[in-house]
Amino acid sequence: MNHDQTKQQIIDAFQFRHATKSFDPTKKIPADDFQFILETARLSPSSFGYEPWNLLVIQNEAVRNDIRDVSWGAQGQLPTASHYVIFLARTGGQMQPDGAHVKHMMDVLGLSDEAKAGRTKRYGLFLEEDFKIGDNEKAMTDWSAKQAYIALGNMMSTAAQIGIDSCPIEGFDQQAVEQILERHGVLDRSVFTVPVMVAFGYRADEPKRSKQRRCLDEIVTFVD
Ligand SMILES: Cc1cc2nc3c(=O)[nH]c(=O)nc-3n(C[C@H](O)[C@H](O)[C@H](O)COP(=O)(O)O)c2cc1C
Repeated sequence: MNHDQTKQQIIDAFQFRHATKSFDPTKKIPADDFQFILETARLSPSSFGYEPWNLLVIQNEAVRNDIRDVSWGAQGQLPTASHYVIFLARTGGQMQPDGAHVKHMMDVLGLSDEAKAGRTKRYGLFLEEDFKIGDNEKAMTDWSAKQAYIALGNMMSTAAQIGIDSCPIEGFDQQAVEQILERHGVLDRSVFTVPVMVAFGYRADEPKRSKQRRCLDEIVTFVD
């Protein structure tokens, strides 16, 4: 495939992707295709490389039903999705420079003791002085969530490129969903919050209308 064909294939996938309201419940995503989608989440970038998010894949019907009761935006998706993913974003306390998660990530990154010390200092200054979020639990947690959305976008774009539909979902009572997950023993609310969910599967119907977007001129300003 040449360069232009590759570009066209990617644009076709972006046109194909739409917020799927209801999936064909008889169609399941093959395990290797779903692993492939997960892999693109895993390879997604994160600030400092600290990966402040995890994923829950909710395949249990009872858990899905409980979540549906408090999710106005996922009424059609929860009962029909082949795979239903809940993003977990680390709470602010978890992302402090001296916290266990950040220390673990510096090990994952394979840093020397000297590099760890330099990074800890730089990261602390970033939180305190550059972004001024270090002492604000909510802002820190939202910063984790922002990064989860990068992986979310990558997963949906990847899925579209292999003909799999998806729908991002923020239409839910956050506290209620977290309580349900805690009750089912899959969430510790001191460690994670739930910023967004995403359903994957195969569309039951074609989208009702084509994409409606602003034109690029309205969005982009080149500063030459
Ligand atoms: C962060 C986020 C949250 C969303 N939440 C919901 C939701 O709860 N339920 C839903 O049906 N669609 C949801 N959507 C889908 C948007 O409404 C949809 O992406 C937008 O209208 C553009 O349409 P398209 O994705 O089909 O191109 C969400 C989209 C994003 C990015």
